Amino acid sequence: MRLFVAIALPVDIRQMLCALQGGVQGARWVDGDNLHLTLRFIGEADGVQLRDLDAELSAIEFPAFETAVCGLGTFERRQRVHMLWADIEMPPALTALRERVEAAIMRAGYGPEGRKFKAHVTLARFRRGAGTDIGDYLEATNIFARGDFPVRSFSLYRSHLNRDGAKYETLFTYGLRDVSA
Ligand code: 2AM
Repeated sequence: MRLFVAIALPVDIRQMLCALQGGVQGARWVDGDNLHLTLRFIGEADGVQLRDLDAELSAIEFPAFETAVCGLGTFERRQRVHMLWADIEMPPALTALRERVEAAIMRAGYGPEGRKFKAHVTLARFRRGAGTDIGDYLEATNIFARGDFPVRSFSLYRSHLNRDGAKYETLFTYGLRDVSA
């Protein structure tokens, strides 16, 4: 099975992001229910690895915190836009939580993440040649209302790849310590 660790977004943030989905040629928009903030892509795991990952992730003790969606951005490959995403603010707590998750995954037997982390929520992916009007879209949506949201948990997800894209199944959710009291 194919696994990753991510933060689920509250419904108001997903609605806000869904409202931005449209108006780019050839975009494959991510379904509103699937919008999430990936902390770490793990990749393939068997049942034993899943048990070890769950044991390590559930041992993480971390306080709840706030972050925000704060703009839009794109990833490019060979000078072509291939992904449109919502930018996520990176408070020290998010950096620290990500490091804790990374350490837990390595304790479960995985090698280190090779890629540099950029917190984002993927809104759309593009086939080759699509998205040439992304500049117009970004200009039209540049009055971006910031959306603060609390992070009270993170989850281990399973990704089911199929012809119409990926379906994400939440396997386990790990609560963060309530700091409101
Ligand atoms: P993305 O949205 O930026 O593509 C499930 O696939 C989640 O893991 C997605 O949010 C995806 O990020 C992320 N991910 C990170 N690295 C990945 C990889 N090498 N292959 C597939 N997904 C990856």
